[in-house]
Amino acid sequence: MIVIIICGAAGALVFVAVIVGFIWFYKSCKNFSKRNSETGSSDPSALSKASLQQTCSNHCGSCYSFRVDIFTNYGSNIAVEWNKGAGLSSSAGPQGARQFRLEELEQATKQFADSNLIGFGSFGPVYKGWIRDNVVVIKRHQGAPREEFNAGAIYLSEIRHRNLVTLLGYCQERGSQILVYECIPNGSMCNHLYDTGREAPTRLEFKQRLSIALGAARGLCHLHSLIPPLIHKNFKTANVLVDENFTAKVADAGITMLLEKIEEAGPSQGSRINVFRDPEVEALGSLTEMSDVYSFGVFLMELITGRDEAVHIDYLRSNDSLIQLVQSQLSSNELVDRRLAGSFTMDGIKDVIKLTLKCMCFPGKRRLNMNMIVEELERINEKEMELTTVTGEGTSKITLGSELFASK
Ligand SMILES: *[C@@H]1O[C@H](CO)[C@@H](O)[C@H](O)[C@H]1NC(C)=O
Ligand SMILES: *[C@@H]1O[C@H](CO)[C@@H](O)[C@H](O)[C@H]1NC(C)=O
Ligand SMILES: *[C@@H]1O[C@H](CO)[C@@H](O)[C@H](O)[C@H]1NC(C)=O
Repeated sequence: MIVIIICGAAGALVFVAVIVGFIWFYKSCKNFSKRNSETGSSDPSALSKASLQQTCSNHCGSCYSFRVDIFTNYGSNIAVEWNKGAGLSSSAGPQGARQFRLEELEQATKQFADSNLIGFGSFGPVYKGWIRDNVVVIKRHQGAPREEFNAGAIYLSEIRHRNLVTLLGYCQERGSQILVYECIPNGSMCNHLYDTGREAPTRLEFKQRLSIALGAARGLCHLHSLIPPLIHKNFKTANVLVDENFTAKVADAGITMLLEKIEEAGPSQGSRINVFRDPEVEALGSLTEMSDVYSFGVFLMELITGRDEAVHIDYLRSNDSLIQLVQSQLSSNELVDRRLAGSFTMDGIKDVIKLTLKCMCFPGKRRLNMNMIVEELERINEKEMELTTVTGEGTSKITLGSELFASK
């Protein structure tokens, strides 16, 4: 009984502290726009106003100040030269990319039987298949033969990273364009995160979510570090898959780009509002690294809330609306997933909320790049591990309470 009361009280204190930290952050970033960049190291863990300002300026110091002409200058700098990339890799020879025959893939999926259909993606229907006892995922697109498809598929299959789903091969025959991927056993994060009501999702605790966020960030970071950078363009929770050890693997990298190359009209946007899509894209006219960062921010938000954010955030256009959203969720006690109770430290969750805001802020040029996000997540992850390992899992709540008392 007493334990319940203590836990309840600690929970309430956490909630209040998160709000306070959040308002702090908001104010400091508002002030930041009036300040010039300053140097000096920063420790984001110290939650003072001054240190937050420093964090902001360290991260954003090199950004240009917001001007109206940002919209005309922005896209051209970062335009991806797909053809160049594809050309480079085909001259280097297709390492690992296998050209499948349609016959093989028909066999693998029992003539693309409905029983093997596992979903629909932006590329078309998705099938499970068996090729020599290996399970693979096969994505099929219908379209007139295009040379760009083979070149693009070869290019994409050469991008290998621990946190990216590997493209094993491709096939272009008889009006079908097919991509063959490795199968990631534990599927999409949506199944583990959203409480769909059908089956109890895995109860992923805070540290697991952190390490999944870190993995996904590393995957995106790798794409952005390529020359030329590869913008994912369709990053979302559904495209973060996990293997049996819950290692994150980003799926569908480069698919939007491939569709742009092989479809006359470009990929169809679909009628559903895409909350992962950077609202600035309409004004800029193209997707950039920073729009991937925005999408990553929405993913972080879903890791915190444990919910499909679709209904909540389709009206975001400015820092103010972002702040408003988070504030209203905080005040209705809906921001932090209840299933996380007792599995996080206050600093940890505050740092992730702050990071989320830095990924989603406006204008896009103010956002952190994926490199900085990886570093920040590594730092938060390390600190969280230290704190909860030293005190032991079950006692993290008590540590939390005493910390709060100490600072009161
Ligand atoms: C995820 O992997 C674990 C093993 O690590 C397994 O027990 C569990 O059933 C898997 N869940 C899903 C949804 O595949
Ligand atoms: C999962 O973890 C186990 C134990 O650490 C390891 O043996 C296995 O290879 C891992 N699986 C993958 C796919 O990384
Ligand atoms: C939005 O917030 C970021 C910090 O998160 C700040 O750098 C930026 O200047 C703000 N944008 C506007 C328009 O105030």
